[in-house]
Amino acid sequence: MKILIINGPNLNMLGEREEAIYGKQTLDTINAEIKAFAQKNGIETVFFQSNIEGEICEAVQQVKTVYKADGIVLNAGAYTHYSHAIGDALACVNVPKVEVHISNVHAREDFRHLSVLADNCNGVICGFGADSYKLACLAIKGISER
Ligand code: DQA
Repeated sequence: MKILIINGPNLNMLGEREEAIYGKQTLDTINAEIKAFAQKNGIETVFFQSNIEGEICEAVQQVKTVYKADGIVLNAGAYTHYSHAIGDALACVNVPKVEVHISNVHAREDFRHLSVLADNCNGVICGFGADSYKLACLAIKGISER
């Protein structure tokens, strides 16, 4: 099975972005770690990052056609909290979807407590750093095997 991992705005800045919250790892390092972990668990991965809302909608829409993937792990960054366009895109595709966050959004500012994506996902994982993505991959595998 194959999972599309999508990262949204400002996640390309990991490593130098608010280190106390997001850690020292760059997105490339995190993606390499996810890829190795996924491989050990019999999962293939493909990665996409964009700072642009419409490009994230397109990546979601293309999960089956272009990426030939069976599920989506999505960290939409701040779009999580207000992008109904990405929420609608998630509703368009019939694959397992997990929303993830590196930080525990519920322990942060009030505006981060709301997700407009979660109701179109199978579940949400947050607060475990890079492990949030790995846990989400296992969750998607579990759903697919049910
Ligand atoms: C984030 C949390 C969001 O609130 C924030 O806007 C991000 C990163 C996380 O991974 O913790 O950009 O999605």
